[in-house]
Amino acid sequence: MMTLPLMTSALGNLTIRRVPYSRKETLQAFDQADILALDYLHDENLLSSTSRVLVINDSFAAITSTVSMAMVSKLGPMPVLWSDSYLAKLGLQANAKTNDLPQAGFVQAQDTPQGPFDMVILRLPKSHGLLLDQIQRLLPQLAANALIIMPVMVKHIDNAVYQLLESALGELTTSLARKKARLMFASQLVEGSRKSPSAAEVVWDVPTLGLSLQHYSGVFGRTKLDPGAQVLLDNFPQGPYQRVIDLGCGNGVQAIAAAKKWPLSQVMGVDESYMSVASASLNAASNGVAAQCEFKAGDCLTDMNIKFVDLILCNPPFHQERVVGDQIAMRMFAQAAKVLTPEGELWVVGNRHLGYHAKLKRWFKRVEQIGAHPKFVVLKARL
Ligand SMILES: C[S@@+](CC[C@H](N)C(=O)[O-])C[C@H]1O[C@@H](n2cnc3c(N)ncnc32)[C@H](O)[C@@H]1O
Repeated sequence: MMTLPLMTSALGNLTIRRVPYSRKETLQAFDQADILALDYLHDENLLSSTSRVLVINDSFAAITSTVSMAMVSKLGPMPVLWSDSYLAKLGLQANAKTNDLPQAGFVQAQDTPQGPFDMVILRLPKSHGLLLDQIQRLLPQLAANALIIMPVMVKHIDNAVYQLLESALGELTTSLARKKARLMFASQLVEGSRKSPSAAEVVWDVPTLGLSLQHYSGVFGRTKLDPGAQVLLDNFPQGPYQRVIDLGCGNGVQAIAAAKKWPLSQVMGVDESYMSVASASLNAASNGVAAQCEFKAGDCLTDMNIKFVDLILCNPPFHQERVVGDQIAMRMFAQAAKVLTPEGELWVVGNRHLGYHAKLKRWFKRVEQIGAHPKFVVLKARL
């Protein structure tokens, strides 16, 4: 069933789609919390021709696009979107184009947007580490009397998040709930107490490989090696291979292991998280394989050369922020089938119950299980 892409708020109507665009898409690019925040901006008359608005973690730029439309009518400055997501940047560009709006600013999560901002709309990321890091870097960029509005779906707020926000932002107030959404406000801002290490302060070792890995905030498996990643490393392909891709590279551990194992190979890591790409680049350099490795922000393997790669290593994501499902894994497999040479191999690790074996057969003729582990399977897929 197709979802309706029309987003209606008191600030006006826009067509807001998820990216990549699909006619069969069943998920919406915005939620009731986005609409509640936009209605509030309108009803309280909070936008003026001088407002400098920062929007944070706006998944497909629904809020940013609507604020852009409002600022165009006020002849004011365009808002800025600050996000760790390459898909959010694509969403910002696509939704501006569809609605004939000028481009808002975009700042990648590892950089800090330059204020002073007097209005901040903060969608809470799933990662508490990223949330604290963003707040700590945001506070010095606020104008006096700045207001932070946090639109939330009620089910995503628990005591732990609430306490974390109060310790970083001072006393919070909340709106009444509407359609299971609510707004939280911070306006009595305090300097954030340092509760978590910030960018690349977390360092841990993978003794079996002699690697030391650093992580920016929000990156998958931040303080220890992911068990699935370990199982793939324990059942690594033998090779040799010349062109290798680490698809959904996170901290780059698979890419770095490949570069070390096959010193003549060229390895590329792709991730939709900018913090991941930055961490992986840092890790390749600190582990001595920077010359062999390239990391880039991207959506799966879109824009890659077809029939070009010998080996793809993949520990796929099983959720997109709070939306759980295997839709991204399926896109990864479909695109891997196009990018591999006829004799190329896709190696996937996943939880047994996800049933990747049968799913891979949609695109790959030969799928075999490598190694045995009670919880995970490693699968080798060939065309
Ligand atoms: C399960 S983690 C694996 C990380 C790392 N390869 C490892 O083995 O520890 C999956 C990764 O896929 C990334 N990802 C999610 N959606 C993506 C997309 N559309 N394109 C590329 N990477 C994506 C996530 O950011 C995350 O880093």
